[in-house]
Amino acid sequence: MSAFEPRVFSGVQPTGNLHLGNYLGAIKRFAALQDTHNCIYCVVDMHAITVWQDPAALQAAIREVASAYIAAGIDPKGSIIFNQSQVAGHAELAWVFNCIARMGWLNRMTQFKEKAGKNRENASAGLFVYPSLMAADILLYKGTHVPVGEDQKQHLELTRDIAAKFNNDYAERIAELGLGGEDGYFPMTEPLISGAATRVMSLRDGTKKMSKSDPSDLARINLTDDADTIAKKIRKAKTDTEPLPGDADGLKERPDAANLVGIYAALADVSVADVLKDHAGAQFSAFKPALADLAVAKLAPIADEMRRLKADPGFIEGILADGAGRADAIARPVMQGVKDIVGFLTTRK
Ligand code: AMP
Ligand code: TRP
Repeated sequence: MSAFEPRVFSGVQPTGNLHLGNYLGAIKRFAALQDTHNCIYCVVDMHAITVWQDPAALQAAIREVASAYIAAGIDPKGSIIFNQSQVAGHAELAWVFNCIARMGWLNRMTQFKEKAGKNRENASAGLFVYPSLMAADILLYKGTHVPVGEDQKQHLELTRDIAAKFNNDYAERIAELGLGGEDGYFPMTEPLISGAATRVMSLRDGTKKMSKSDPSDLARINLTDDADTIAKKIRKAKTDTEPLPGDADGLKERPDAANLVGIYAALADVSVADVLKDHAGAQFSAFKPALADLAVAKLAPIADEMRRLKADPGFIEGILADGAGRADAIARPVMQGVKDIVGFLTTRK
C-alpha cells in the first residue's frame, strides 16, 4: 500500500482548437473520475508559451479550456479548476526538477523532437524542459493518478524518473526531516490511459493523430463545431470500401475504419466489440450517419454550454481565481518541504 492519498491531476494546454481527441482522451475522463477521486484540473498556460502565443488569443484560450472543463461536467466546487501561472509553486518546483532531470532523459522525448522539428537550434529552451514543468505540475500536489491520452505516456514515465531520483538523491535528508517514509517524498504517479479512444486519429488520415495544429479543419471535430459541421466532417471522413467486420481483429490494417469505430465506442461508453456486434456487415454509408447522430447528441450540448460560458468571462475568471487559491493551499506545504529537503533557507513569517 502506498503511503500517498490518491489524488488525480491533469492538464490541457490553452492553444486553441480543442477537439474530439482532447475530449475523449482526456476531458471526458476527467469528469468521470470526480465521483471516486479528489481531482485537480489545470489549464497549463505556462506550457502553452513554450511556442509563441498571441497574448490576447492566449487569454481567450485559457477561458475556453476552463469552459470546456465545466461544459464537460467537471464541477468547479468539488474539483479544483485553475490556470497554472496563478500558482507560483509550478515554476518553483520546475526549477528544482530541471536540476534533477538529466539532459539525456529530456533528449529522448519524442514530443520535443516532433515539436522542435528540423530546426532544433531555434526551439525555445522552455520547449526542451517542458517535461520537468509537467512533472512539477503533478508532484506539487503529490498527484498519484494522471488521466491523459496515449501521447503523454513518455512524459509520465519521465515524471516517475524525476520523482525516483529526487527521493533517492535526498533519501537521508527526507528521513532526517521526517518528511516521508519508505516511499519517499514524492509518489510514483500512475498514468490512466484507457478506453476506446486513447489516441483519436485524423478524420482525413487514420495513421495520423487528430491534432490542434492540423492545417485541415476537416481532420478534426472541434468542441465548438455546430451540428451541421460535425455531420459534414463525419460524412467526409476517410474510409475504405469494405463493410464493418464482426470483431476487432477485422479492424487491423484498417486505420480509418478502426478510428471511426473507436470514436463511436468512446462516445457511446461501450466497447469496440459491442459496436461491432451491432454494426457488423454495415457499409459506411449506414454507419457514418449513425456516428454523426451520436456525435451531435453528445457534443452539441457541450458546445452550447461553452458558448453560454463564453458570454460571461467574469464567471470563468472567478472560478479560476477560486481554484488557484485552493490549489495554492495544497501546494504551499509541499513546496516548503522541497525547500527544506534541498537545503534552501527560508524565513518563516
Ligand atoms: P494538449 O492539447 O496537447 O494539451 O492535450 C490535452 C490532452 O488531450 C492530453 O491528455 C492529450 O494526451 C490528449 N489528447 C490530445 N490529442 C489527442 C488525441 N488525438 N487522442 C487522444 N487524446 C488526445
Ligand atoms: N503535456 C500535456 C499535453 O500536452 C499537458 C500537461 C501539462 C499535463 N502538465 C500536465 C497533463 C500534467 C497531465 C498532467 O497534453
